[in-house]
Amino acid sequence: MTGTGVRSGPSGPGGPADRNAGRNNRRGPGTDVNANRNKRGGGRGDSVGGPFSEQDLADREDRLARSGGLLRRIRKTKAAGGGADAGDAEATGKVQIQAPFTIKELAEASGIRASEIIKRLFQQGIMATVNVAIDPQRAQDIMIDFDIELDITTKKTAEEEVSAIFQVREQVDVRPRAPVVTIMGHVDHGKTSLLDKIRKTNVASGEAGGITQKTSVFRVSVDVAGEEKPIVFLDTPGHQAFTEMRSRGANLTDIIVLVISAADGVMPQTVESINHAKAAKVPIVVALNKIDSPQATPSQIQKIYGQLAEHELSPQEWGGSTELVKTSALNGTGISELLETLDLQAQVLELKAGFSGPAQGRVVEASRDEGRGPLATVLLQQGKLKVGDFIVVGRAFGRVRGMTNDQGKSLKEAGPSMPVQISGMDQMPDAGDPFFVTGSLRQAEEAAVNRRERERTEHLLQPKVTLDSLLGQMKDAAVKEILIVLKADVQGSVDVIKNEVERLSTTEVKIRVLHAAVGGINESDVQLSEASKAVIVGFNVIPSGKARSLAEQKGVEIRTYQVIYDITEDVKKAASGLLEPEIRQEVLGHAEVRKVYAVSRVGTIAGCYITDGMVQRDALIRVTRQGVVIVNDRKLEQLKRFKDDAKDVKAGMECGMKIVGYDDIKEGDVLECYKKVEIKRTL
Ligand code: GTP
Ligand code: MG
Repeated sequence: MTGTGVRSGPSGPGGPADRNAGRNNRRGPGTDVNANRNKRGGGRGDSVGGPFSEQDLADREDRLARSGGLLRRIRKTKAAGGGADAGDAEATGKVQIQAPFTIKELAEASGIRASEIIKRLFQQGIMATVNVAIDPQRAQDIMIDFDIELDITTKKTAEEEVSAIFQVREQVDVRPRAPVVTIMGHVDHGKTSLLDKIRKTNVASGEAGGITQKTSVFRVSVDVAGEEKPIVFLDTPGHQAFTEMRSRGANLTDIIVLVISAADGVMPQTVESINHAKAAKVPIVVALNKIDSPQATPSQIQKIYGQLAEHELSPQEWGGSTELVKTSALNGTGISELLETLDLQAQVLELKAGFSGPAQGRVVEASRDEGRGPLATVLLQQGKLKVGDFIVVGRAFGRVRGMTNDQGKSLKEAGPSMPVQISGMDQMPDAGDPFFVTGSLRQAEEAAVNRRERERTEHLLQPKVTLDSLLGQMKDAAVKEILIVLKADVQGSVDVIKNEVERLSTTEVKIRVLHAAVGGINESDVQLSEASKAVIVGFNVIPSGKARSLAEQKGVEIRTYQVIYDITEDVKKAASGLLEPEIRQEVLGHAEVRKVYAVSRVGTIAGCYITDGMVQRDALIRVTRQGVVIVNDRKLEQLKRFKDDAKDVKAGMECGMKIVGYDDIKEGDVLECYKKVEIKRTL
């Protein structure tokens, strides 16, 4: 539940987009260090507003400065008097290393035992193993303790070089481009039907034998006042895929169509979609669908307007600014009006792209074809893509052999906002991967190989977003913002906590609850948090197994609480940069209650299956039902494997448990086993 693992350094000034930029374009930590060094004028007393991170920096600064001269002297003295206190430092003075590096590589370069480095990390509350990458800044700090000045060099990788060319190049032949529209909404509100209707009524039939390929992205032409205007639709199944793409830096969407069934109104997933869209800072157009339905009465529609207003999406009919179109995917009502609205919205956004020069874009989906090999459906963002171009597509590279549009028609070239399927890559890329046209096949290959190497360590390098690291990561932002995804057991708590927490905003630090809802913490919450650099706060709820492992993998912090006061206290401390993770709960594992036995004079014995981690006899137990916490901090009276007492029981095994003073266990309950550990901050 805590954000353990090796954190990567500050990934950028702060905004959601920056996080991705930071990851894609992994900057040298050296740059960070220097930036900090230059930024700080005075000594350690001048941390304005006193964020903890500043203090951190000051301390580091101090030690770094000393490492140059003073430390060297200390080292000499130490060497004379019996050596450093730990490890077997062979290296002296400056040690050069190229980032990124693993703990093992750091150990090899510095001569400090890996176990020693791991121990230091552990003291900082970070669990790590030798093969994980270590945040260079942290490495630098640890090495100072061994009197080693770590000189970190960063070479731009081939992959970074390629993307850098595109970042600085001047755009040629800049013209308006078609908007890219994503449809989101609650289950069964008519997203697919709406897209089908749009496609059928607007995709020119007869072309290429009228075959419409079923890809998740397609382009339609809208006739606006006699002018043909193209619109691209990206059919991502729900907000999960959308946010997943966004978390990978692929913010392809210009406009979101929020589909709401006029028969049902705003539903939980509608709210999730709204919050995901808001987090992506994308304008929303509402399609009030199923307007043909008998339930879509005027009073029902007014009620929905009210619900929309509650989410700051007050429609124009109500004097608000949200575009709302009443549609029916069944009989086609409002479809052309919707398309015109999208075109209008696109004009407001002034979407433009360079139509010449080497192409750049993103993968929307990838597949493999018996005959043609790996295929990628890509959306072009800049430049012109031609058959025969050399390309690097994430980890894949090659030469564009064939290119077809969304209707299966083969093309020689394509431009911005055009979805095309290409063949000619050596392997399958992932959805969300960027692609670039390169000057040579070798350049493409080098960049792709780079990516493959990076993928091997990437998941370990991801910046961990934790409540106590957020401010530090945002130190360059003008207004600092702590983003929170809040889940709680009941609506009352959601409302109270949201209010309480947002009220803690100051002029310097804004606290914003991105998404707040009732229920256990799910994967969608984790995805939203990852993409937006938010922290998940759970009140009387726990994450699902899938959400937990996703959070671990993505480095998203989930903090769970049982007392509202603790939440506000922690957020307050985080906002002032003083958060100390004193007592952390370390989750050991989970057990599912498969059967309950009432034993006279003993109480209820829970027959359990350990789904992950382990359960320890002397650890604490939390009983949860459908993600909601029932009781906390219970001890075990008995832990048995068959008839024998056990000290611990590991994942995949069954066991019997009796909780001290608690007999209200039900089948299907999930028992969370945890320990309270005190983690001292050494920085
Ligand atoms: P998921 O993909 O499951 O999230 O659903 P969806 O939002 O794509 O909804 P889908 O298009 O599958 O439509 C769900 C049901 O609503 C189907 O039975 C449709 O026939 C019906 N439906 C969709 N649009 C309309 C509409 O405008 N009017 C009426 N009366 N029914 C509609
Ligand atoms: Mg659907």
